[in-house]
Amino acid sequence: MHANGSRNRLTPRQLDLYLGDNLFARLARTVCNVGVLPRKELHEAWEVARRVRRRFRGGRVVDLCCGHGLLAHVMLLLDDTAPTALAVDTRLTLNHRALSEAIVAAWPRLQGRVTFVQAALKEVELHKDDVVVSAHACGSLTDDILQRAQAAGARVAVLPCCQALRERGALDGWMDGALAVDVERATQLRAAGYQIWTQTIPAEISPKNRLLLGAPVHRPQSQGP
Ligand SMILES: C[S@@+](CC[C@H](N)C(=O)[O-])C[C@H]1O[C@@H](n2cnc3c(N)ncnc32)[C@H](O)[C@@H]1O
Repeated sequence: MHANGSRNRLTPRQLDLYLGDNLFARLARTVCNVGVLPRKELHEAWEVARRVRRRFRGGRVVDLCCGHGLLAHVMLLLDDTAPTALAVDTRLTLNHRALSEAIVAAWPRLQGRVTFVQAALKEVELHKDDVVVSAHACGSLTDDILQRAQAAGARVAVLPCCQALRERGALDGWMDGALAVDVERATQLRAAGYQIWTQTIPAEISPKNRLLLGAPVHRPQSQGP
């Protein structure tokens, strides 16, 4: 496994890995100093957010199944035109607040803009201007997120994992079962009137690296930087 896919926590001992003055290096050093986040989660959140922000600008960010909620923060850091972010999880991690406070201390413009809610994703009201994101919502949770986003007409980006293979038989005679599940998700999203984009994040960070983005076709697309 590549070191950036490690589940070991980043601590101040890893500060030297992230030298320089670019945004990612500064974020990584902030994360190291808090000492709570697995290394792969930093890299996953960054790789997902930068790809999503190339396509989707603005909007309230809704990070579903957020874990530590880093993705919500990075989405705001990469696009300051997004007003707020909501980070939702049924079991917020013990350390989510420490991480959030450190990021806000480093980027005070985020003060008061990221809200955590301990709730099931089905309890969260979504709106058409939202950008719904989720990294590694296990199994059918990804389907629930895609359905909720579609119902609201919101833009959506998911990085699925733990695909529930037993429910999907149609395409797995031709391709790997987990891929078949994700292909069906993508085609379903397109059939629901969405433009879709299929991308990957580096496999060295996570083998579960397929990123599916969708936006309702009637919505004008922003051009990324
Ligand atoms: C594999 S973790 C991913 C966490 C984070 N997004 C990441 O990439 O590190 C899946 C998360 O989904 C949360 N979860 C499970 N069921 C949920 C539900 N119905 N609504 C919201 N969150 C849920 C879990 O508590 C867990 O934190």
